[in-house]
Amino acid sequence: MAIIVCPKCRKKHIVDSNTIKKNAPLGKKIVARCKSCNHKFPVEFDKLLNHEKEKPQEDIKDPRKICVTLSKGGVGKTTTSVNLSAGLALAGHKVLLVDTDTQGQSSYTLGKKPRAGLTELLTKELAPEECIIRARKNLWLLAGGKSLAGVKRIIDKESFGAEWTLSKAMKTLDNRYDFIIIDTAPGWDQLIVNVLFYATEVLVPVALEVMPLQGLAEFMKSLGSIQKYRKEIVLKYIVPTFMDTRVKGPETIFSQLEKLYPEYMCPPIRYAETLSEAPSYGKTIFEYAPGSTAAADYKELVRKVTLDESALL
Ligand SMILES: Nc1ncnc2c1ncn2[C@@H]1O[C@H](COP(=O)(O)OP(=O)(O)O)[C@@H](O)[C@H]1O
Ligand SMILES: [Mg+2]
Repeated sequence: MAIIVCPKCRKKHIVDSNTIKKNAPLGKKIVARCKSCNHKFPVEFDKLLNHEKEKPQEDIKDPRKICVTLSKGGVGKTTTSVNLSAGLALAGHKVLLVDTDTQGQSSYTLGKKPRAGLTELLTKELAPEECIIRARKNLWLLAGGKSLAGVKRIIDKESFGAEWTLSKAMKTLDNRYDFIIIDTAPGWDQLIVNVLFYATEVLVPVALEVMPLQGLAEFMKSLGSIQKYRKEIVLKYIVPTFMDTRVKGPETIFSQLEKLYPEYMCPPIRYAETLSEAPSYGKTIFEYAPGSTAAADYKELVRKVTLDESALL
């Protein structure tokens, strides 16, 4: 199956790949007509078909479902989600990155413009496998974006079991991956509650700036309120981000965190310009600056999460 989006009315059409192969000789441009608004437009079928070639194998096992979350914005959630996913994929794991933010930053960072994503999965507008795109070798993306705002309203209207909407939608998809990494938006809303009812592990990036401990304590309280209803969700990792060794503040906060939460602490991600530059090139840190301190730090995180000391060496 392939998806064609009408450039005029944005309606999505599902086309059978076998029909395309039969009617469209390779390399030839075909003119399609939108069944909805009658608009005619050229379509490059070769591209659509190439897109389908690599698919994750099915029924691997129970995936590890890690959500990257903290109510505060700008702490490194998206940066960590994308680069942890990319690192795990480079280490040979099959990874699905799920972006639950309306900003759709994950697609941008990976240099992709997906035609569908989490919205279409939740609204059942498309079949689950049509909502996912392959972003890299071993790495697939279920994209977020503006349209998720409407989905939140749909979840709100559900009178029963609204917190399980994401879990139900992911059911047929997630056994194909070793890791599902879920990036979340700042704040606290029904989509985050859904994520916490779906994931089993929480990774919290904590920016080592002024007053991060208060934000963390507040988040722990909210997580506790979810755990009353869902025991499986546990805090697993605290990842200190924006570690700047040139000034004293971050190091002090780092040692406070270590004292308070020794069991969750991960090696810090240092402050690095390369991390803020990479997204505008559509690259992960391993592609943009493989020899950088940032790449080294995210490699360490991959080792911590996989418990494999030699991962990505
Ligand atoms: N360790 C870091 N050093 C320098 N800049 C960073 C670092 N981590 C993230 N950034 C940049 O900081 C900004 C916020 O990070 P982001 O991952 O988008 O946060 P969030 O998803 O929590 O809002 C982005 O521009 C990102 O590129
Ligand atoms: Mg983000």
